[in-house]
Amino acid sequence: MNKKTLLGTGLSLLILFSPLTQAFAEESTGEVRKVDNIAHRGAAGYAPENTMAAFDKAIEMKADYIEMDIQRTKDGELVIIHDTSVDRTTDGSGYVRDLTLNELRSLDAGSWKGTEFAGEKIPTFDQVLDKYHGKIGILLELKAPELYPGIEESIAEELKDRNLDKPQNQKMILQSFNFESMKKMNTLLPNIPIGVLTWSKAHTTPQALKEFSAYADYFNPSYGLINEDLVNLVHSLGMKIQSWTVRSQASADFLLEMKVDGIITDYPDYVDPRKEK
Ligand code: G3P
Ligand code: CA
Repeated sequence: MNKKTLLGTGLSLLILFSPLTQAFAEESTGEVRKVDNIAHRGAAGYAPENTMAAFDKAIEMKADYIEMDIQRTKDGELVIIHDTSVDRTTDGSGYVRDLTLNELRSLDAGSWKGTEFAGEKIPTFDQVLDKYHGKIGILLELKAPELYPGIEESIAEELKDRNLDKPQNQKMILQSFNFESMKKMNTLLPNIPIGVLTWSKAHTTPQALKEFSAYADYFNPSYGLINEDLVNLVHSLGMKIQSWTVRSQASADFLLEMKVDGIITDYPDYVDPRKEK
């Protein structure tokens, strides 16, 4: 059975046994279409991005997935943070790769968003898997993996140790703007769906998409690139399409209308297929 068949089987089972938290849209044919509601960096519109508070908020808001960014500390620990430095989202300064886990964990990653979040910490990958795997899907972005040689192997090892590399654990997707890194992850973890991220129109040509479809299951462009033809082309190549980053009701409505498979949003409450025109 090839990777796409396995993915299809896994997704069918997920849909069959899905919790009531998933978003559905009614097609004109009467067929029910699922749209994944993906909380960007957690529900980043409501809580400090990439913290447990943001992931808890996403669960509370009944998102289907939490999106998050993974990087590596100086002492080799996998941590969840978006920027390659801690300056914007914590009370510290410096590059993630130059700080030890203890140094990173001593920082306040919540106060910048609001005093009620004071004391939130940068989570480790371990903590996130312990708390959230099995409760909500995880869309894991390898952020700037070129800065962290071997990070693909470390992530694969972590997932294998937890037996999360099997087809039945499909509510985990790996994605990156770094396509070589995604090819590598596909080799290391052939049963885990792979996504390619882009904001470049050059990556939306039939030829480019065909190349992605050799190893990717998801093509995930910024929403400025989305139109119906692109969605159809991606689907015709056997891939799904998830788009980002929704920060307004209008952009959520637009993506629903374009019939993408997943909407990556700071505001999970904007994704409501029942509002689809
Ligand atoms: O999941 C897509 C999105 O997260 C990519 O952009 O910069 O928010 O990581 P960024
Ligand atoms: Ca991201």
